[in-house]
Amino acid sequence: MSDKSNSTIAIFGATGGCANSTLVRSLLAGYDVSALARTPAKLTSQLLAQGLPQETLDQHLTIVQGDATKVENVKRTLLLDGKLVSFIISGLGGKPVFQKSLRKPVSIDNPDICATATETILNALREICAENPSAAAMKPLLAYVSTTGISNGPEDVPFGFRFLYHVLLAVPHVDKRKMESIWTSHMAQPEASERLFRGVVGVRASLLTGGIDYKSGKGWKTLRVGVEEKPAVGYTIARADVGEWIFEQLIKKDGGEWVGKSVTLTS
Ligand SMILES: NC(=O)c1ccc[n+]([C@@H]2O[C@H](COP(=O)([O-])OP(=O)(O)OC[C@H]3O[C@@H](n4cnc5c(N)ncnc54)[C@H](OP(=O)(O)O)[C@@H]3O)[C@@H](O)[C@H]2O)c1
Repeated sequence: MSDKSNSTIAIFGATGGCANSTLVRSLLAGYDVSALARTPAKLTSQLLAQGLPQETLDQHLTIVQGDATKVENVKRTLLLDGKLVSFIISGLGGKPVFQKSLRKPVSIDNPDICATATETILNALREICAENPSAAAMKPLLAYVSTTGISNGPEDVPFGFRFLYHVLLAVPHVDKRKMESIWTSHMAQPEASERLFRGVVGVRASLLTGGIDYKSGKGWKTLRVGVEEKPAVGYTIARADVGEWIFEQLIKKDGGEWVGKSVTLTS
């Protein structure tokens, strides 16, 4: 169980529905959060529109204006009041771009965003630890949002969605595979001192529905949850539910039983 008086959170991709839902739940529970946003006003208006009081934002939220591919911006996000955060949540992703290609009809505006931002987070944390050796002892827990359809284990996409996932969405999935492989390789280093995190959790969501509204899900307790070796196979999940599950199962429980796993989440 994480103690919120000592636990702080950095969130990347907070203007996307999944990470936004985690952010809202964390702020309402009184955690101090640092969020990177390319357009801070967009994030603030999303939060106010969901009914968060301005006072809660003033008290618990620090918005860092910047880009997740710039080490300096990421370092500022990871250091809340000069101290390394205890949790890092990433829901970063690109915007779909539809193209005139039968073989690759869907691409994304930045086809390397997840992999590049992953390297950037690692480099930022390395620099923080080199500049402040006491930070190296305070390893954060990291969770990233990924997708079903890229598993090395049993099929985690239902039959009716396999063409969509394995053919139409092949381009965006290349980036997700690269991101996952960077995290897996980093955490597989044999020397514990080389690993910058106390744990990493991959959250593979099925097809996302809904937008920016933390109340629009069915509730995290209704979700079906699996792991790579025994996935939960389903069609869709609300962004609000992905974010709530991350808050309830990872932030509140310090990763719990999910640390080191690739978790599949679906409704
Ligand atoms: N679509 C699906 O069905 C599906 C299924 C499973 C998993 N996923 C993946 O799950 C993740 C979360 O999805 P979502 O729908 O909650 O979020 P999303 O709408 O994809 O939002 C992506 C977030 O990343 C931010 N971002 C992108 N490039 C950035 C950069 N260079 N610097 C800083 N921020 C940057 C965006 O900020 P801006 O507001 O500034 O653009 C936004 O906050 C994504 O990786 C998505 O691909 C999607």
